[in-house]
Amino acid sequence: MPSFVANVNQQTDVLPKGVKALMDNGLVTIPGRYIKPPSHRAVKHLIVPGVEIPVIDMAELESDREKFVQTLCKASSEWGIFQVINHGIPVATMQGMVHGVLELFDLPIEEKMKYYTEEVFVPVRYCTSMTPSQETHMEWHDHFQHYFSNREKEHPWPEKPACYKEIAWFLGYCRRLASSYVSSVKHLSQTLMSALSEGLGLDSNCLAKSFGDSEMILRSNYYPPCPNPDLALGMNGHTDSGGLTILFEDQVGGLQARKGDLWYDLKPIKNAFIVNIADQLQILSNGKYKSIEHRVLVQPDQTRLSIVAFCNPSQDAVIGPLPELIDEQNPPLYKSTLYQEHITNVYTKYLDGKHSQKLQIN
Ligand code: OGA
Ligand code: NI
Repeated sequence: MPSFVANVNQQTDVLPKGVKALMDNGLVTIPGRYIKPPSHRAVKHLIVPGVEIPVIDMAELESDREKFVQTLCKASSEWGIFQVINHGIPVATMQGMVHGVLELFDLPIEEKMKYYTEEVFVPVRYCTSMTPSQETHMEWHDHFQHYFSNREKEHPWPEKPACYKEIAWFLGYCRRLASSYVSSVKHLSQTLMSALSEGLGLDSNCLAKSFGDSEMILRSNYYPPCPNPDLALGMNGHTDSGGLTILFEDQVGGLQARKGDLWYDLKPIKNAFIVNIADQLQILSNGKYKSIEHRVLVQPDQTRLSIVAFCNPSQDAVIGPLPELIDEQNPPLYKSTLYQEHITNVYTKYLDGKHSQKLQIN
């Protein structure tokens, strides 16, 4: 918390203000810091068009649960990413969230800069790229990130100093804005986690139990049009470090998933969610479910918005391969690690690239 407050008082004129602000000021060529070296750019011949990433129909859950579990398990093992349709979350909930998030990004830059921080474990963060002060090549996006955890109940917000009050107000604003969206997405993640547990041949509450008092981080990514889209990336290739990621996007497209050396486009499906397996589910399932690497391309003429819910274990959960999956033929592929330690490593050591390849393997 102290570092968050310190940021409120920082000299904002020396901090990067984000790519939306650059474009709002009429930028016509991207600054050098956004130009990726050729080895990091998206190479056209490694992109495979027209391959269908699995689509999971949640309606099947009611009609044939066993088949649903099999399909979900196959998608999570072969791809680690899929789209979810007929999920039952009202379109109005998603649209309300999108409008609210756009309002956040449309705040005057001075207002957004009050929440600017490179700290990752703060209740609310506005930032651009990932950690600009440590990056040689920045990512072409801005984001707001907000924690939803039971720990929040432990923060009685003091009235003074004034900046605290302002933060408390802003947190309350974000919470109200997101509350029905977050509870709907939480419910969807619980349904998927139960089915994923069953797919491992285990009780439906097995994965949820391993997560403990789970935590949700909501991150909204704003990708403005980019004057030189071939030279930049909206987001570098990475795996997500938590449990399960549930993403809602507009119809612009640009998200790609990697299999081997090739990248596959995720074609937007209206009102669907994109779900991907993250590192901790790969570890718990002892490698059966795959934490897939993904990245985002930018567009020359369109703004893209994504709203990403990271459904993560409690920071004090120890995550290792589930003992029920381990025997002589199936030795553990990963060590058990405190989740907090894993994410601290991710944010301090593995700033680029694929985390799950760097998971500790016995
Ligand atoms: C992320 C992410 C993809 C997107 O925030 O981790 O992968 O489409 N986002 O914004
Ligand atoms: Ni991601």
